[in-house]
Amino acid sequence: MRIDIVSIFPEYLDALDLSLIGKARQERLLDVRVRDLRDFTTDRHRTVDDTPYGGGAGMVMKAEPWAQALESVLEDGPRRPVLVVPSPAGAVFDQTMAHEFAGLDHLVFACGRYEGIDERVIDWARDSFDVRPVSLGDYVLNGGEVAVLAMVEAVGRLVPGVVGNPASLVEESHADGLLEYPVYTKPSSWRDREVPEVLLSGNHARIAGWRRSEQFRRTAERRPDLLAEVDAGTLGPADLAVLGEAGFDVVDGVLVRSAR
Ligand code: ADE
Repeated sequence: MRIDIVSIFPEYLDALDLSLIGKARQERLLDVRVRDLRDFTTDRHRTVDDTPYGGGAGMVMKAEPWAQALESVLEDGPRRPVLVVPSPAGAVFDQTMAHEFAGLDHLVFACGRYEGIDERVIDWARDSFDVRPVSLGDYVLNGGEVAVLAMVEAVGRLVPGVVGNPASLVEESHADGLLEYPVYTKPSSWRDREVPEVLLSGNHARIAGWRRSEQFRRTAERRPDLLAEVDAGTLGPADLAVLGEAGFDVVDGVLVRSAR
């Protein structure tokens, strides 16, 4: 998979040399190329921003350096890539989007700074890219670089071969719409705290049942919004019992908070 990133702080993206993503780059599973937006300016000061039309605080990124940078990406890439524009005004990134992006040949990220990029660049780019404004969540960062680090890691690890044991992708949070169950390792007794007895039982069916119950318990407590998406038809009696304890009932095939 080819990933191009345009930024005025290319050093921010140095973290993509590390760990699993760094290894995947070395193994050519991921072809990540970082471009410095200032290399596409023509003035002595390498200017990338200017004051906003209409007034207001802050600066806006100028259109022409962005057009030049994105044209350079198009020159040597496959046809019509997805252009992700990180922005707090975008659609919220989630695991479903990560899977969608992991299935693409070519992803391009445009890291904005200041108050954002001149909107005409976004409109112009739609001729050659599938443009996707994407937010990491409902808070404001100083620029797109940190969001891109998060997205490239979330997407990259879903590309076949990047994570050594693909089974670990199956049992993690959000893989099945629920949060992950708690995990423990040796020693079984630590500072007077014991590992749950069932995990030492060797009974795989009991362990699987306990883990599934813990997923429901945790999701109900921490992310009750996720339960609205669960297909109630797939729930067994043990699931319904845990969810009942956690304050959820099935009404018309949907999980809702119990009236109490
Ligand atoms: N840039 C600034 N804030 C952002 C956010 N929440 N998500 C993605 N990019 C951003």
